[in-house]
Amino acid sequence: MTTPFCPAYPTPRKSKASLLLMFFSARRSWLDALYERSYAMQMGEVHLPGMDLYMVNDPALVRRVMQDEAADFPKSPQTGEALGPLLGESIFTTNGAQWQRQRQMMNPAFAQARLNVAFPAMREATADMLARLAQLPDGAEYDVEVEMTHVTADIIFRTIFSQPMGGEDARRIFEAFARYQALAPRLMLPSVYGVRWLVWPWDTWRSRRAAREIRGLLEKLIRPRFEAYCAGRPTGDVDILQAFMEARDEATGAPFGFEELVDQVAMLFLAGHETSASALTWALHMLANAPDIQERMVAEHREVVGERAPQNGDMKQLRLAWNVFRETLRLFPPVGFVAREATKACPMRGKQVQAGATIVVSPWLIQRHRNIWPQPDVFDPDRWDDEASRESQRQGYLPFGMGPRVCLGAAFALQEATLILSSLIARYRLSAVPGHVPQPVGRLTIRSANGVRLRLHRRAAC
Ligand code: HEM
Repeated sequence: MTTPFCPAYPTPRKSKASLLLMFFSARRSWLDALYERSYAMQMGEVHLPGMDLYMVNDPALVRRVMQDEAADFPKSPQTGEALGPLLGESIFTTNGAQWQRQRQMMNPAFAQARLNVAFPAMREATADMLARLAQLPDGAEYDVEVEMTHVTADIIFRTIFSQPMGGEDARRIFEAFARYQALAPRLMLPSVYGVRWLVWPWDTWRSRRAAREIRGLLEKLIRPRFEAYCAGRPTGDVDILQAFMEARDEATGAPFGFEELVDQVAMLFLAGHETSASALTWALHMLANAPDIQERMVAEHREVVGERAPQNGDMKQLRLAWNVFRETLRLFPPVGFVAREATKACPMRGKQVQAGATIVVSPWLIQRHRNIWPQPDVFDPDRWDDEASRESQRQGYLPFGMGPRVCLGAAFALQEATLILSSLIARYRLSAVPGHVPQPVGRLTIRSANGVRLRLHRRAAC
């Protein structure tokens, strides 16, 4: 019996920090602002200059905010403020009737039938990833975050545009996104803390410039397709861009205009690769420290897929790979918190929450909550097949959010991650680099401050 692996995470403070300390810790990583009780409390509160903030862990309250009374708790305006220059009026940040219309128009692009069409793109991008890894010397030490970002960006690029991310424009989009992502938390946190004046104008300028560059490049790719479609000469590509151009508002029959189309594509590129890349990177880190699970995954891959090309239908049968990913999303949920605004005063656990207060729901805290999960910090993919943990799963698992704003790409993400993890482990044995301990930091997603370096050892063919 091997010892279960417990990945490192920032040691929480013993007690609540002062506001100033909390702000400066959170500027580096919002995980550093948490304290021990954050992982055991039902609800916490922080009163900031000009803002009341409530952190909600109680499963009943979470359901109320995210699901049962979701209309009274729309997305907080801070989300839109920081991401606005890039995402414009995208589904991720809009509210009310505008969001409802966008969601209705975008749903068909993520239906199961479309996922089946997307699978070959996932398989080709995964094969290209394996070809890139094959260039490395056997046993090489490698930062897997770089590759996980590349392969997931390639997959979403192919599914949107029906072309691989090999060209010069794609490379420039990718680089500008990396710059934008690095700056996003520096703009978002002061906004959440009500101290926008602490944002450096230089950061704002650089972020806006990256956003303009990304949008310009995306427009260059979308414009010819849009014009051809409007002129009645569609290219025949069956991809997300096509689905978005065909989408019609149920009430008026109107399609997306060009600007709104660019907003949705920019959002999808960001939401569709940053999150999956983060989770896959942590999955590989934990697998490198759980050799027994790797061996079971190899056996599973050989039994289900063998030497042939993986098929869409295989994914549900790769049960262990699937569970590894679900467990990773529990321990390292890429979207570590979501923020909502209380639009009217309401009672919560005996407190009177005022209209305008920010309600934060944190999958990071809830999925490691001491009262919900047994051995909350242990990496244990088998808990997903354990009847005894059904209640924990029901009460305390929401990596894709919950209710009407639940992630549109959840099935897409589970499918690509199962394919990538199972294919990679079937080819390579991963081992940890002695002395290298990845340090989780809460930025746009949960990333590692010092990368995730592993050794990749080629496996002999069976
Ligand atoms: C492991 C990967 C992913 C995770 C953990 C994740 C997580 C989330 C979460 C938590 C939300 C809800 C945010 C909130 O309630 O404020 C969300 C929304 C969304 N996600 Fe994902 N996501 C992932 C992958 C993807 C992918 C691959 C796509 C698209 C291909 C996608 C598209 C979206 C969209 C469009 C929304 C906005 C839905 C709405 O507001 O109606 N996500 N995601």
